[in-house]
Amino acid sequence: MLMKYQKIHFNEIDSTNNYLKNSYRLLNNFTFVSADYQSKGKGRNNRVWTSKPGENLMFSFLIKDKSLIVHAPIISLLTAIEVAKLLETYKIQKVSVKWPNDVLIADKKVCGILAEGELPNYLIVGVGINVNQKDFPADLRRPATSLSLMLNEDIDIDELRDKLFNQIVSSLINLEFDKKLDYFRKHNYLLNKRVKATFDNQEFIGEVIGIDDSFCLQIQSRDVVLNIDSGEIEIL
Ligand code: BTN
Repeated sequence: MLMKYQKIHFNEIDSTNNYLKNSYRLLNNFTFVSADYQSKGKGRNNRVWTSKPGENLMFSFLIKDKSLIVHAPIISLLTAIEVAKLLETYKIQKVSVKWPNDVLIADKKVCGILAEGELPNYLIVGVGINVNQKDFPADLRRPATSLSLMLNEDIDIDELRDKLFNQIVSSLINLEFDKKLDYFRKHNYLLNKRVKATFDNQEFIGEVIGIDDSFCLQIQSRDVVLNIDSGEIEIL
């Protein structure tokens, strides 16, 4: 089914997240903004997100609908799930979702998501997917990969973008949480890993045992199970 959304594309922009931040008042729910190149691409924790012009998919979408804003804490994760599902349709193996918002192929990051906004007014979800890039800086914190490296061929970015926009809109309109929980549980990168979670300026160390029905990460720490709804996770 063709979904209703608006899309804007730039050859170059500072950051698609910033564009929506500056103009959200004028724009509708489900406005998607993409760019071939970002001069000030932002990553999580004030890091930069760099990408060579035209090689990757970078976009942000705006959520203003109150019935969706209530789900703000899990919207990055729901978006990551849709990215992972789409990558699997390209016959990519070993796709997983790293709670709360990365998509990995084997142990390498292929997609990052940065959600920003002012609740309950608006939420911006920014998505960067490595598509046709073949070289990555050696000094990245964690190894990265791209679709073309995995498939040994270049991918049509416009086609990937349109498929993903439709899929995200459809998934956020028909919030079928059970199906999403089920998918996530089968693709949970952190499962059984020992992690340090930083949450509310506190650190917790333990083993990831799953997610609960509200998509909170469950960490077994000594005798207790912690259900974490947001935060930074470091694998130990
Ligand atoms: C991360 O893993 O650190 C999140 C990266 C998010 C990058 C995307 S690219 C499109 C959007 N615009 C930005 O400036 N950042 C996000």
